[in-house]
Amino acid sequence: MASNDVHSHRDEENGGATCIATTDTQNSSNHRSDCKKYEIIDIDIRSEFSHHDRDVARINNGSFGSCPSSVIESQQCYQLRFLQQPDDFYFNHLKPSILRSRQAIKTLIKADHVDEISIIDNATTAAAIVLQHVKWSFFESKFNPGDTAVMLHYAYGAVKKSVEAYVTRAGGHVIEVKMPFPIASNDEIITAFRNALELGKSDNRKVRLAVIDHITSMPTVVIPVKELVKMCREEGVDHIFVDAAHAIGSIEVDVKEIGADFYTSNLHKWLFCPPSIAFLHCRNPEVANLHHPVVSHEYGNGLAIESSWIGTRDYSAQLVVPEALEFVNRFEGGLDGIIKWNHQKVVEMAEMLVKAWGTNLGSPPEMCSSMAMVGLPPSLEITSDSDALKLRSHLRDCFRVEVPIYYRQPKDGEVNPVTGYARISHQIYNTFDDYYRFRDAVSNLVNCRFTYSNGDPTPTEDWIGLVWFGLVWWKMKESSRFDETPLTNFDFHVTVTNHLNSKIFL
Ligand SMILES: Cc1ncc(COP(=O)(O)O)c(C=O)c1O
Repeated sequence: MASNDVHSHRDEENGGATCIATTDTQNSSNHRSDCKKYEIIDIDIRSEFSHHDRDVARINNGSFGSCPSSVIESQQCYQLRFLQQPDDFYFNHLKPSILRSRQAIKTLIKADHVDEISIIDNATTAAAIVLQHVKWSFFESKFNPGDTAVMLHYAYGAVKKSVEAYVTRAGGHVIEVKMPFPIASNDEIITAFRNALELGKSDNRKVRLAVIDHITSMPTVVIPVKELVKMCREEGVDHIFVDAAHAIGSIEVDVKEIGADFYTSNLHKWLFCPPSIAFLHCRNPEVANLHHPVVSHEYGNGLAIESSWIGTRDYSAQLVVPEALEFVNRFEGGLDGIIKWNHQKVVEMAEMLVKAWGTNLGSPPEMCSSMAMVGLPPSLEITSDSDALKLRSHLRDCFRVEVPIYYRQPKDGEVNPVTGYARISHQIYNTFDDYYRFRDAVSNLVNCRFTYSNGDPTPTEDWIGLVWFGLVWWKMKESSRFDETPLTNFDFHVTVTNHLNSKIFL
């Protein structure tokens, strides 16, 4: 959509640090904040996301996010400026540009001061920063061996590993808050959390750290974070870290109202920034004494400054926050409008899917963000994490549907339990057809009595099956416009699965 003629120019009003990509085409005006606001369903969205593989029903924005081409152009412009004159870029533009992004984030999350905001690579780095700080408190005998850290059982896997690496190794005791799933109300979370804090304080121990997700990843649920932070304060928990990797751009964020000590969110998931960029908000930066795990020249100058130079690398993703917000503000209602739209649509699609499959949602709609958990038909027999992964790969490889699958262990005595859940996302580029394709793929598998608990469904010893699979692959590779011939491909798949069923299950 854009010409190759990309120019950068200085924006004097913004301290000369702005890099704005302009193009020769009439589309260029669409990238400016002074253009008219667009309906979210506008055709313009198609061109902004025209780099997406259109053969794929991409209903997994939650994992890696998405970035519109206008923002990618701005990022490339920054990259080019660095390559054109690195010294000028480093000495005159990098820090003011990072500051510009920090200021934009400060306003967005309603923080008091820009010094509270550090820009880092991702939520994983934020966890390392906070947990390393906790580790030093153990090493410097501010905390006693056996003092407790409390986190949700559904905390993100990488964050759990960080707790193991920094807190458990330093002598801390970790308590995981068990939450039910499917979940019916906030009260279930609040009760489970209160019990965990009580347990953490037993035997004269102190709860030194609480790690609370704002939106859990898998299964995904919006956590009543304000209530949990308040409870931690009342119980005298030393450090409260909110892992809100999914929050900014998918729910409202007000860090003062939430009141945690540390709050992090990725901007590359739901705020249309390129990978990768996150912020870490620190309520009391002067007292906190946080440090970036990668030490460079700025060590000791405060986390925000330390983080702004961690050695030579590509900083461009950190510089385009204003451009991402400019993109967002082209829509009616700006970011709030997008948040409401995505929530409404993901709930609508989740309800459509559970109705089609006769299953249930993983949580009530008000506990969903722009993602929702959708129960899969029990007849698919998802009986382990590896079955869930098999289905996920199968959906990608044979149906071109990208969606993460969760395995839930059934309770004793449950009859015909829903053990598999799909985490669907909705972002502005999604269409209903994406979800219909997913619905039809699963319905096809059910109709063909496909199951996942009986080992690898690939017909390795069956030459007729292999020929059919070969034909499917050939057909898919040949068809560059999968969405124009979905029925043909689906028919192929149904034939294959029918054939497999006759071999495997009859
Ligand atoms: C809750 C949660 N925390 C942390 C992360 C880590 O994010 P990143 O890989 O960008 O560091 C994720 C990623 O999906 C997440 O869902």
